[in-house]
Amino acid sequence: MRQEVRFLIGIVVACCWVVLASADKMLYKNPTKPLGLRIKDLMRRMSLEEKIGQMVQIERTVASHQVLKNYYIGSVLSGGGSAPKKKAPAQAWVDMVNDLQNGSLSTRLGIPMIYGIDAVHGQNTVYNATIFPHNIGLGATRDPELVRKIGAATALEVRATGIQYVFAPCIAVCRDPRWGRCYESYSEDPEVVRAMTEIIHGLQGETPPNSLGVPYVAGKEKVAACAKHFVGDGGTVKGINGNNTAISRHGLLGTHMAGYYNSIIKGVATVMVSYSSWNGVKMHANHDMITGFLKETMRFRGFVITDYMAIDMITPTIHENYTYSILKSVNAGIDMVMIPFNYTEFINGLTFLVKNNFIPISRIDDAVARILRVKFVMGLFENPLADYSMVNYLGCKEHRELAREAVRKSLVLLKNGENGEEPVLPLPKKTSRILVAGTHADNIGYQCGGWTIEWQGASGNITAGTTILSAIRNTVDPKTKVTFKENPDVEFVKSKDFSHAIVVVGEKPYAESLGDNLNLTIPHPGPTILENVCAHVKCVVVLITGRPVVIQPYLPQIDALVAAWLPGSEGQGVADVLFGNFGFTGKLPRTWFKTVDQLPMNVGDSHYDPLFPFGYGLMTEPLK
Ligand code: BGC
Ligand code: BGC
Repeated sequence: MRQEVRFLIGIVVACCWVVLASADKMLYKNPTKPLGLRIKDLMRRMSLEEKIGQMVQIERTVASHQVLKNYYIGSVLSGGGSAPKKKAPAQAWVDMVNDLQNGSLSTRLGIPMIYGIDAVHGQNTVYNATIFPHNIGLGATRDPELVRKIGAATALEVRATGIQYVFAPCIAVCRDPRWGRCYESYSEDPEVVRAMTEIIHGLQGETPPNSLGVPYVAGKEKVAACAKHFVGDGGTVKGINGNNTAISRHGLLGTHMAGYYNSIIKGVATVMVSYSSWNGVKMHANHDMITGFLKETMRFRGFVITDYMAIDMITPTIHENYTYSILKSVNAGIDMVMIPFNYTEFINGLTFLVKNNFIPISRIDDAVARILRVKFVMGLFENPLADYSMVNYLGCKEHRELAREAVRKSLVLLKNGENGEEPVLPLPKKTSRILVAGTHADNIGYQCGGWTIEWQGASGNITAGTTILSAIRNTVDPKTKVTFKENPDVEFVKSKDFSHAIVVVGEKPYAESLGDNLNLTIPHPGPTILENVCAHVKCVVVLITGRPVVIQPYLPQIDALVAAWLPGSEGQGVADVLFGNFGFTGKLPRTWFKTVDQLPMNVGDSHYDPLFPFGYGLMTEPLK
C-alpha cells in the first residue's frame, strides 16, 4: 500500500515536472505542437490586460512601438489612404510594419500583432502597386479562376509591403446601384458572388483536404482575408450606406448570406461586420446573427472584426455611450474591434465590464482564442517580421499583365452599330484620324476609382499605369493620327475629318457614403462631350463607372457602347479589345435600368423591364 502511494506521488511529481519543463519551453512557441495546445498554453499564461489587448485594432496614425508594447495591442490597420508617407516605397511600409511588430515582440509573451489594410483591388493604398479592376468588373468576367489569380497576385503585393492581412473580399450582393459601394460588389446575383469567393483561395492559399471551415493561410506569401460586410450590406433601403436592410430571414439567407457559406468552407480567416441594420437591429449588436448564426450554425472558427468605428454607431448618435457600445458588441460575439483611435477608452471600458461581470470571461477567451488561432495558423509567430525580399512584386510586370487580362475580360459590349448594319467594333488600327475625347480618357485616378491611393480615390497621375488614351496610341498603326481633346466643341469635332471617335466618360471616384447617389446621371461635362462628338462622328462610348448609370437618353446617338467599369491601372486592356486583338466576352453582372425610378430592380423581379438585362453582353471575335 505504502509503495503504491509512493508510486502515485512519483507520477504526480513527474507530471508536474513535465508541465513545468514544457512551460519553461513555452510550448506555444513550438510550431510542431498541435494548434489547440498552442492556443491553450498561451492563453493560460495571459493576464486579462494581455487578452483585452489582443482584441484591439488601432489606426497606424496612433500606433507606435511603445503603444503596441504598453497596451499589448493585437492589431494595427491602415484606414483608407493611410500611408507612412506620400508615395512611400515598399521598403518604407516594411520598415513601418516591422517597427510596430518589434513593439509587440518585446512584450512579456511576445505575441505578434497583425497588420490589416483595404487591399480591395490590389494593394491599392500603395504607390506603384498593380491596380486591378474593381469587383463589379471582375463579376463581368464570370471567371473565378482569373479572380483566384488576382487574389494570389494581391497577396504577394501586400506581403511586399510587410502586411499580412487584407480587408477583402467584399462579398456584398448589391441590390441597388444607388449604393456608393456597388462597385465593390461582384454582382446583384448571389451565385456570381458565391463563385467569386474563389479569390479567398488566391489570397490565403488552397485549403488542404479535410480542413473545411478551419481558417487557413498558407504562410509567408499569403495573407489573411476578410469576408465583409456581415450581412446584408448590399440590401439597404435606397442603397444608403449603413442603412437598414428590410428583408425576411429567408431573403437574407438566400441573397445576402450566400457568399459566407462558401467563404467559410474556403477557410476565410476573418469576417467583418456591417455598419447596416437588419430589420432595425444594428448588425454590430446582433447576437443571434454573429454568435448564433455565424459562429454556431455556420461554425466559423476565425475571428469576427468590427467595421471602422462601428461600435460607436450602435447608439442613435455616434459615441453617445461607449460603455454600452462595448458591452453590446462584445456580447454579440465580436472578437476584434477596429476602434480605431480611442484605444485607452476602449481598454478601460472593456476591463471594467469584465471585472464587474457584465461580460463573462468566457466571451473574452472565445475572442482571444480565435485571434490567436488565426495568428498561429498563418505562421505569424514563426515569421513575425518582414524583409525586403518581396518588394519587387509590387507593381511587377506579371501582375500588370494579369490586370490587363482582367480588364479585357471585364468589358461589356452593350451596343455595336444599328441592327442589321455593319458593326462598329472592333475598330481598324489603320485609318486616317481618330478623335479621343472625354474626361476619363487620360486620367489614371479616374479609371481606378475609389479606394485607390486615397480613401475616396483622386484625379490624375496618382500612381503608375497606362491611361486609355496612351493605350490607344500604343495600339493603332503608326500612320493613324490620334487627336486628344478632353472637351471638344462641335466646331472642333467637324473640322478634322475624323474617321472615328472614342469618347471616354463616366463617374468621378468615390467610396462608401460619399458615393451614394439617387440620380445616377453621368456628371457634367460627360453628356455634353458625348452629344457634341456623337452627333458628328461615328463614335464609340466607353463608360468608366462603378455601376449602371442613366444612358437611355443618349443611346440613339451612340454608335457603340462599352461598359468598362473601374478598370484600374492597366488601361491597355481596353485598347486591346476596342481594336480587336481580343474579342468582347464580358456579361453584365447587374441589371442596367432604363430610369432610376425603376430601382431597385434585379434579375428575377416580377416587374423586370431593363434597358439591358442581367447577363447581357455582345460578343465579338478577335481580328485575325
Ligand atoms: C469600411 C470597410 C473598411 C474599413 C477600413 C470602413 O469604413 O466600411 O470596408 O475595411 O473602413 O478602412
Ligand atoms: C474609412 C477609413 C478612412 C476614414 C477616413 C472611414 O470611414 O473607412 O478607411 O480612413 O473613414 O476618415
